[in-house]
Amino acid sequence: MERLQKMLAHAGVASRRKSEQLILDGKVKVNGKVVKELGTKVSSTDTVEVDGVKLEKEQKVYHLLYKPRGIISAVTDDKGRKTVADLFPHIQERLFPVGRLDYETSGLLIMTNDGDLSFTLTHPKFKIDKTYVARVKGIPGKEQLRILERGVDLEDGKTAPARVKLLSADPKQGGKAIIEITIHEGKNRQVRRMFDAIGFPVQKLKRERFAFLGLHGLNAGESRELTSHEVKLLRVMADTGKIGS
Ligand code: URA
Repeated sequence: MERLQKMLAHAGVASRRKSEQLILDGKVKVNGKVVKELGTKVSSTDTVEVDGVKLEKEQKVYHLLYKPRGIISAVTDDKGRKTVADLFPHIQERLFPVGRLDYETSGLLIMTNDGDLSFTLTHPKFKIDKTYVARVKGIPGKEQLRILERGVDLEDGKTAPARVKLLSADPKQGGKAIIEITIHEGKNRQVRRMFDAIGFPVQKLKRERFAFLGLHGLNAGESRELTSHEVKLLRVMADTGKIGS
């Protein structure tokens, strides 16, 4: 027996959080009856339907995408914009992004139908390193970069300590700098807001790494399957993460 939202996430319907919402919205039936209680336990012999469609067990798939700029990291868009799901026309399984990157941000995004792993990897308590390279307007000094390292007060709280490295600086035309920053939180537009807070707005942003994964060999818009070893490592990280501690 497992909890209904977990089963939906396992079956690749949506992330666990979104599956909970589907249940609350009355879109899920168990053995023909609408179930709105999140704790409901189901077994593999129960018939589960979402929006009237019977749940089939789907094979888990894991892809690493180099998301280009100008694409949204969702699977549908009410404004009809291109989504990351559109970059996988050849994949039958429903893929969901693990976390999100802004429309204008490029870089590494894991795509999977494994809602459970996705839930764990994006859980705020699971401190997974994400490394970004930002081009900013102006050239921050050492003291300003230290502020980013120590934590910046944003409207939704102070950011956790970050690792920051000035990669290059170009004083021409008012100046710009290329800075690498590693954070382990996932606040909305966090990197952009951190640089805004010290007065150096981000002009271009790319996620170079997610945990031990990088973008080697991929161009923007391209993807590759994760190896079974990489998936295993992500699971080990999830199992030994800080969740519940
Ligand atoms: N921080 C941002 O500002 N944007 C992203 O897309 C990811 C992290």
